[in-house]
Amino acid sequence: MENMRGSEVISCERCPALVASRSMIVNGDGKLNAEMLFVGEGPGREEDINGKPFVGRSGSVLDKSLQKNGIERKDIRITNCVRCRPPENRNPSKEELYNCKNHLHTEIQLVNPSLVIALGRVPSEHLLQRKVKVTEEAGKIELVNIAGVDRFVLICIHPAATLYNPNQKMIFESAISKAVEWIESKRTEEK
Ligand code: URA
Repeated sequence: MENMRGSEVISCERCPALVASRSMIVNGDGKLNAEMLFVGEGPGREEDINGKPFVGRSGSVLDKSLQKNGIERKDIRITNCVRCRPPENRNPSKEELYNCKNHLHTEIQLVNPSLVIALGRVPSEHLLQRKVKVTEEAGKIELVNIAGVDRFVLICIHPAATLYNPNQKMIFESAISKAVEWIESKRTEEK
């Protein structure tokens, strides 16, 4: 029913509605041993066309914010909770999230990041397994067991939410800076 190679899903037919709406499967992208793994909700139109996560407007918001902190896209890993575009960009259903969970967990295990950054409510609730109010909790770091391993997860606003709301942009920027500072202080500790 599905076929994986490393962290890449080569074929999967688990979600009939997504199989019908996708052009292709959008796998994670970037450094395979990145310290930071960003997790979005699911591919949008641009991602579905290009086969890469966060290549549209949300991706450029994220890239600009990372650049302000001295980080390039090639330094990080980025993926999504579901790898096929939901029709009309609706949120993935509980069942679709569940169907794609194993792919996400496999990628987290292979990349083994120091910090997972959840971009938006859907990935935050999916990873933390609880209700999350992202605007209030952005910047919080929680230790959570993911597939048997304790992982640090930082809650962040989705980059798309910042496009029309300067207040959310500030919260987003500060959560991204917090992620970078956290990684830098961890590196210093380990020296
Ligand atoms: N939004 C997401 O959550 N993921 C993408 O890949 C693009 C936009």
